[in-house]
Amino acid sequence: MIASASVLLLCACLGAQENNSVSRDLALTPPMGWNSWNKFACSVSEDTIRSMADAMVKSGMKDAGYQYVNVDDCWQVSRDVSGNIVADPQRFPHGMKAVGDYIHSLGLKFGVYSDAGSKTCAGRPGGLGHEYQDAIQYAAWGVDYLKYDWCNTTTQDAKASYANMRAALDASGRAIVLSICEWGTAKPWLWGKEVGGNLWRTTGDISDKWAGQTKWPDGSCCSNGMLAILDQQVGLQSYAGPGHWNDPDMLEVGNGGMSDTEYRVHFSLWAILAAPLIAGNDLRNMRPEIRDILTNKEVIAVDQDPLGREGERVWRNGDLEVWAKQLRDGSRSVVLLNRGSAEQEVTASWEDLGYPDHVSASVHDLWQHKDLGKFNGKFSAQVASHGIVMVMVMP
Ligand code: GLA
Repeated sequence: MIASASVLLLCACLGAQENNSVSRDLALTPPMGWNSWNKFACSVSEDTIRSMADAMVKSGMKDAGYQYVNVDDCWQVSRDVSGNIVADPQRFPHGMKAVGDYIHSLGLKFGVYSDAGSKTCAGRPGGLGHEYQDAIQYAAWGVDYLKYDWCNTTTQDAKASYANMRAALDASGRAIVLSICEWGTAKPWLWGKEVGGNLWRTTGDISDKWAGQTKWPDGSCCSNGMLAILDQQVGLQSYAGPGHWNDPDMLEVGNGGMSDTEYRVHFSLWAILAAPLIAGNDLRNMRPEIRDILTNKEVIAVDQDPLGREGERVWRNGDLEVWAKQLRDGSRSVVLLNRGSAEQEVTASWEDLGYPDHVSASVHDLWQHKDLGKFNGKFSAQVASHGIVMVMVMP
């Protein structure tokens, strides 16, 4: 008896390892793509998704590295008599496989959304009790990325629920990125990697504004302005790395609630955080200024640096901050941030960046695309109100 129990255990273990290998090399750099929620919420359709995939190619976003086209909540309406999830036939008349095929035909990848509980946040059918059935269905549709939300989960254990979904995805035989959307409540940075999550939300939802938190209509806390999200990332940097990222939520760049200067701050800091870069605006009619933010290849290279180190706040004085991220070649990408209402000088000292004071380093501006020369001991710049200066410091 004892012998056969250990054989069983051994098999289960090997099985888990084998399954795990299906998804082993996913998201070695933070995922880049687009998601429907921030702009369209429940007004999502096959036409919108197809045209957004087209726009991702035409706008130059694909060339800049964006690849996932992700349908968020409200694509699903019910389950059939066998329990299979059913896409909204009005909004997705050709079904989800056709959407995935189209996205793949453009050389892009396909993402969908579901929820670990009985219903999604918008009240559509959730995945609870259907994890393996759904995973097989997603794999058959060609899904490459699953965002798995946390509404209506009552007494469920978060770690166990996400581990279960990862096991289901792996059992489908298709490599599928697992985006844990648990909002940080159960500290997913402590267990997200262990359960095979590739990214995990660290906070409640982002809203398209510079700062502050707003309560939801039911009185619960909160949607977060961009800086409120930023502040909640402090101290989490050591949990991120290749294949497993902290997710400070999707981008609001281009959605109209912030100035272009503020959107540059948003994008630069998300790159310093090695955050997933999931655009959330309408890609079909971007102003050139917005397209230039989302496709700034020098800033994207900071986000996508293969070392996979998340940056951190290294200095702060009132409204002024310095954020830095170590890159594989030993250089540092640095953001000088001014949260205040008047232009001010901000200084990054070599000591704060982890370099000896006497070192001479070249400084390159990642928004002006310009070498600024050699500097000793520190670099200072005038930073606009609600603005950043972003540089690369290379000893
Ligand atoms: C939650 C998530 C959002 C979005 C909505 C959809 O609020 O955090 O990102 O997916 O649900 O209902």
